[in-house]
Amino acid sequence: MPLLDDLLLALDKKRPRSRGSDLPNPYLEGNFAPVGHEQDSPPLDVLQGAIPAELRGTHYRMSPAPRFQPPNPGLYHWFDGDGMIDAFHIEDGRVTHSNRWVRTGKLALEERAGHALFGGIRDLATSTSVEGWLSLGFSAADLLRLRVEGLLGKQPTDDQLARVLPAMNRSNTSIAKMAGRLLSLVEGSGAHEIDPRSLATIGPFDFGGAVDPLKGGMVAHPKIEPGTGTIYTFGYWSGRPGLTYHVLGSDGSSRLVRDIETTYPAMMHDFSVTATRAIFYHLPAVLCLDDVSDPNTIRWQPSRGARIGVVLRDDPAAPVRWYEIPPCYVFHPMNAFDDGDAVVIDLVRYPRLPLFDGGGESPNARFEEYPPGMLVRLRLDLGTGRVSETLLDDAPCEFPVVDPRFGMRAHRVGWVAARRGATCGRGIMNAIGRVDFQTGEVRYRVLGRSSYVNEALFIPRSDDAAEGDGYLITTAYHADEGVSDLLILDATDLDREPVAVVRTRQRVPYGFHGTWVPAARSFDRKGEPPPFTTR
Ligand SMILES: [Fe+2]
Repeated sequence: MPLLDDLLLALDKKRPRSRGSDLPNPYLEGNFAPVGHEQDSPPLDVLQGAIPAELRGTHYRMSPAPRFQPPNPGLYHWFDGDGMIDAFHIEDGRVTHSNRWVRTGKLALEERAGHALFGGIRDLATSTSVEGWLSLGFSAADLLRLRVEGLLGKQPTDDQLARVLPAMNRSNTSIAKMAGRLLSLVEGSGAHEIDPRSLATIGPFDFGGAVDPLKGGMVAHPKIEPGTGTIYTFGYWSGRPGLTYHVLGSDGSSRLVRDIETTYPAMMHDFSVTATRAIFYHLPAVLCLDDVSDPNTIRWQPSRGARIGVVLRDDPAAPVRWYEIPPCYVFHPMNAFDDGDAVVIDLVRYPRLPLFDGGGESPNARFEEYPPGMLVRLRLDLGTGRVSETLLDDAPCEFPVVDPRFGMRAHRVGWVAARRGATCGRGIMNAIGRVDFQTGEVRYRVLGRSSYVNEALFIPRSDDAAEGDGYLITTAYHADEGVSDLLILDATDLDREPVAVVRTRQRVPYGFHGTWVPAARSFDRKGEPPPFTTR
C-alpha cells in the first residue's frame, strides 16, 4: 500500500519531536559522547615505562557510541548507543589502536537512511520514525493495526517482536572470545561475530540456532570455565517472567538448554557460576512494557521482592532453589565459588537500581546521584537457606574482576574500578582498587580528581604465574586535557609506577566491558572445520 506508506511518512516528518529534548543528557557529553569516526593508528607513543616483551595480544573494549544523533536526545539512555569496539594490538613493545562500530542490522538500516531511525530503551515506540518502522518490514496498514491493538492492550505477536528485535540489538556491552570466535554481546538479543584483526562485523551469530534471540538471546556476561572452556550463559525474557539457561561446549555446541520461570520480568544483567552451580539474581528492576508511551520501561519496585536462584549447573532437571534477600540491585558479581554446603559470592551491591527510574525530573540523572554500589561478600548456606552479607569496603565501585584462571573457584585477590575522594564530575570512577581477600586489605591507586578509568582487566604474567601475578590493563581519560591513555599496571602492587602509559591519538569513551586475547591463542582455526556457518 505505497500511497498509505507515503502519507504516513509525510505526516511523520511534520510530527514534533521535542519531548524530553530540552533536558541535558550527561551521557551524550564529555567522554560519554561518542567518537564519531573510525580509525587505525600508527604505533602509539609510550609516555612512561615500557610494554613488557611477554605482553603480546589484543585488548578489545566495548562502549556505546550512537552513530547518528538520537531522535530524542533527552530520552537517550547510556545503554542505547551503537556498539563501538576499541582494539589495542600489542606486539614487540609496540601498541596500535583501531576502532570500529559493530555493523548490526539496526546500524545498517540507519547508515542506509543517513540518519537515526529508532528510539531506544525508553522511546522505541514513541521516537521510532515511520521510515524506521517501514524499514523493519512493517507496512502502513501494520502500523495502524498495531496502534489500535496497542490501545486495546494487546501484546505484540512473536512475528511482530521478531521484526522489532533487530532495531533493539545495539551489540554494545561486551566483547569476548568464545567458540573460537570473537563475539560482541548485548543482553536481550543475539551476538555478532567480529573479525578479530580488521574488527569488521561478520554477522549475527546464534550458536547454530541454539541461542534464540526471541528468548532473550544471551546476556553480555557468559562465564567460561577455566581449563575446559565450557560456556555458561542465559537470556532473560522481556514479555513474560523467566529466562533460558544455556550450557555450551568450548566449540559452541549446545549441551543443555532449559527454561526457568520467575515471578516477574526483570532486568537480569549478569549471573554467577561455581564449580557445581549456576546462580541467578532476580532483583526488582522490573520490565514494564505494558505502556509503551511511558519512557520508564525499567522500574525500581522493591515491593516485588528480591531473590537469588541456585541450581545445579550441569543438570537439566535439577530444581531451582530461591533464596529471599533484602531488595538491592547487582549489575556485576566479581566471582562465586562453592564452600562446602554453601556458595560464596563477591559482588557489587546497590541499595537501589541506578541509571533507571531515578524519580527526578530528568530521566538522565548522573550516575553519582544514585546510592553507590559497594563490594560485599554473600554467603548462602544451602542447607539452612540463611544468607549472610559482609561489607568488604565502603568505596563506591564497579567492574569487579578476578584472575580469570580462578573464575568459579575460590579466589584470593580481585580488582575494581572505584571512586575515591573529590572528583570533577566529568566521569564516574577515578581509582583502581586491589582487594586481598585473605588479609582483608583493599588498596587504591587514585588517578586524580579529573582522571577516570574504564574497567580494568587482569592479564597473568605467564600461564603458570601465581594467582594475581600479572598486569592490569585499562584506559584512563584525563578530563582536563580531553585525552586518553592505555594504562598498564603491576597487578600485585598498584602503588608502583605504571608498567606503561601509552597516549592514544583518539580518546576512548567511557564504556562497559573488554577482554584480553593473547596472541598465542589467536583465532586461527586452520585445519578445524568451523562448527557453524554465520548467517
Ligand atoms: Fe555488564
